[in-house]
Amino acid sequence: MEHTRIKQLLNAEPTGQEVIVKGWVRTFRNNQFVAINDGSTFQNIQAVIDHQQTDGQTLKHINTGAAVRVKGNLIESMGKGQRVEVKASEIQVIGKADPEKYPLQPKKHSLEFLREIAHLRFRTATFNAVFKIRNALSFAIHKFFQEKDFVYIHTPIITASDAEGAGEMFKVTALDLTDVPKTDEGKVDYKKDFFGKQTNLTVSGQLEGELAALAFGSIYTFGPTFRAENSNTTRHLAEFWMVEPEMAFYELEDNMDLAEEMLKYVIQYTIAQCKEEILLLEKRLSDEEKMKPKAERSSMSLMEKLTFCLNNDFERLTYTEAIDILKNSKPNKKKKFKYPVEKWGIDLQSEHERYLVEKHFKKPVILTDYPADIKAFYMKENPVAEDGNRTVRAMDILFPGIGELVGGSQREEDLETLTKRMEEMNIPAKEMDWFLDTRRFGSVPHSGFGVGFERLVLFVTGMTNIRDVIPFPRYPGHAEF
Ligand code: 4AD
Ligand code: MG
Repeated sequence: MEHTRIKQLLNAEPTGQEVIVKGWVRTFRNNQFVAINDGSTFQNIQAVIDHQQTDGQTLKHINTGAAVRVKGNLIESMGKGQRVEVKASEIQVIGKADPEKYPLQPKKHSLEFLREIAHLRFRTATFNAVFKIRNALSFAIHKFFQEKDFVYIHTPIITASDAEGAGEMFKVTALDLTDVPKTDEGKVDYKKDFFGKQTNLTVSGQLEGELAALAFGSIYTFGPTFRAENSNTTRHLAEFWMVEPEMAFYELEDNMDLAEEMLKYVIQYTIAQCKEEILLLEKRLSDEEKMKPKAERSSMSLMEKLTFCLNNDFERLTYTEAIDILKNSKPNKKKKFKYPVEKWGIDLQSEHERYLVEKHFKKPVILTDYPADIKAFYMKENPVAEDGNRTVRAMDILFPGIGELVGGSQREEDLETLTKRMEEMNIPAKEMDWFLDTRRFGSVPHSGFGVGFERLVLFVTGMTNIRDVIPFPRYPGHAEF
């Protein structure tokens, strides 16, 4: 390779050595200063060209977005804002970018505008930083589990099961939708479909993960999951990535310990790898917050929030305790919640979760032992309480600014209890026979959880919209690229 990456050059000693840079023009000022970026860092290197020595055609094509090759000497920079620069002896335009047509101009664009041209937003400093952090977090997740001897399992994308019993799946079919085969009862005849049965995009790899955990001991999945819920929020995507560890012989406590350790590990790793990126996004965030009224600004900077999370134990309490706190909270008494907290058994709304995390405890919170009625069929039941309330050994981890980041539980390992619960929840046991085999043959207590990966990236980047932390977001009405 004849060129050197800009990240390396920015850290090199400027001894006048000859270097070659290849990248894209970010700005061209005074017919002299070309800021070049090659993606290796969000920072640009400045090339100083001698416009007397450069032919007019080349000068005309040094525009924002154009690809260039520059040969020159790496010298100490006299200008403000950079330590080194390239004194160019040669500049060549490799790929032109018509300034009349190129949508990215050398100015600050709004995130909303950039979302509309998401195919080009990789070329901005903000998104360079966001996706470097996403990259580091992905690697850290694998590193954490691999160091603990967890086995990485690929669970299927196309499934015939609905892990959450939530009924919000995308259907997968090869049938001709203009001529759908019907059964005698007039229903769609899936026997004639590609797989001979009805199939969907997976909502979670958990159930298949459990099969592997009961053989390997500890496994994790890390892959795309799909939900066809019509949620137009800054926290929901129709296609998102989930990390799902599943461990034999783990009870709820062990599950919580592992989740907390893992989150702290990956955040720590990312701070170490991507300090510059985090500081860039911290500045972006604080500039944005300056526009807000004082009361709405956060008291901590992004880096402070991350280190605070590392240095403090997550608060652990039961759903029942949380309901008491919420019932007696100021916003509830003053009727400020959109969904008032009146009785035990309600599903917590994000306003409630955020109150607990951001106002009451001011740190990450793990809520456990939720009402059985609002949780999935596979969660292990607690003994019925004196007041008759039924709870399950569930745990959700709630994060400041995010709400629910992790959902998990100890699993029901008893065949009889599990099949009874499936009946109650109208889950056809016949189709889940393969899953029930884990409970028939060598069943053991086991637990697992799922981390919404984009929500984790949101937390670490300080971005505020989930559509800005996945390269190509899918949400209702949007599946571009
Ligand atoms: O709480 P959920 O639905 O749990 C499960 O799917 C379990 N099977 C996980 C397990 O125990 N193995 O989803 C897990 C996490 C949520 O806490 C949330 O962070 C994220 O996935 N999540 C979403 N993220 C983005 N967009 C959506 N539509 C999401 N739905 C859930
Ligand atoms: Mg959940």
